[in-house]
Amino acid sequence: MHTPQLFDAPAPDQRLGPAARVLRGFALPVARELLPAIDAIAAASPFRHMVTPGGLTMSVAQTNCGALGWASDRRGYRYTTIDPETGASWPAMPGVFDRLARQAAEAAGFSGFVPDACLINRYAPGARLSLHQDRDECDFDAPIVSVSLGMGAVFLFGGHARTDPTTRVALHHGDVVVWGGADRLRYHGVLPLKDEPHALLGRQRINFTFRKAG
Ligand code: SIN
Ligand code: FE2
Repeated sequence: MHTPQLFDAPAPDQRLGPAARVLRGFALPVARELLPAIDAIAAASPFRHMVTPGGLTMSVAQTNCGALGWASDRRGYRYTTIDPETGASWPAMPGVFDRLARQAAEAAGFSGFVPDACLINRYAPGARLSLHQDRDECDFDAPIVSVSLGMGAVFLFGGHARTDPTTRVALHHGDVVVWGGADRLRYHGVLPLKDEPHALLGRQRINFTFRKAG
């Protein structure tokens, strides 16, 4: 059953800023191809709860695919070519991921996006991501492409200061958010996940963020 809810922003494709868009259902045509690819990535580089430089264990479990992967520990945040947990390279980015990222970027007005990193976040009920900027990448000209699968979540899209007001955006299975240009460094985060199981993925939400990190 669908429970209607009121959010600050309406449900169709929407602009979150001059260079930020929500593409509703953009990933739906390939969603079933993405799922086995996630399992294969997780078999090689398992989901893990990273520790922040401040010593907190993140509630979101993470892994990566692509030439570069995002990692955090007591020493800081960085991109690495090697998974620190396995000592091997991060799994290659599957073609279906790469194509989806390029097509979504193009649809949002960013042509020529070539992602070299994909951070995969797995949220269980209650997991959240506090407001942050994506600023560990070398190249801020390239956008961030964020794909949501599984349980719905409330994405917060803020301004250039942590204390700026945020827009609440309900994200569902298949939705893609793209932000770049003037919006590239806007704060964003995810509210604690509600426990509303998804037909295909059960009690989890998976989010990919594609980046040009190197
Ligand atoms: C992120 O900011 O890395 C993830 C955002 C999301 O899970 O929607
Ligand atoms: Fe982020």
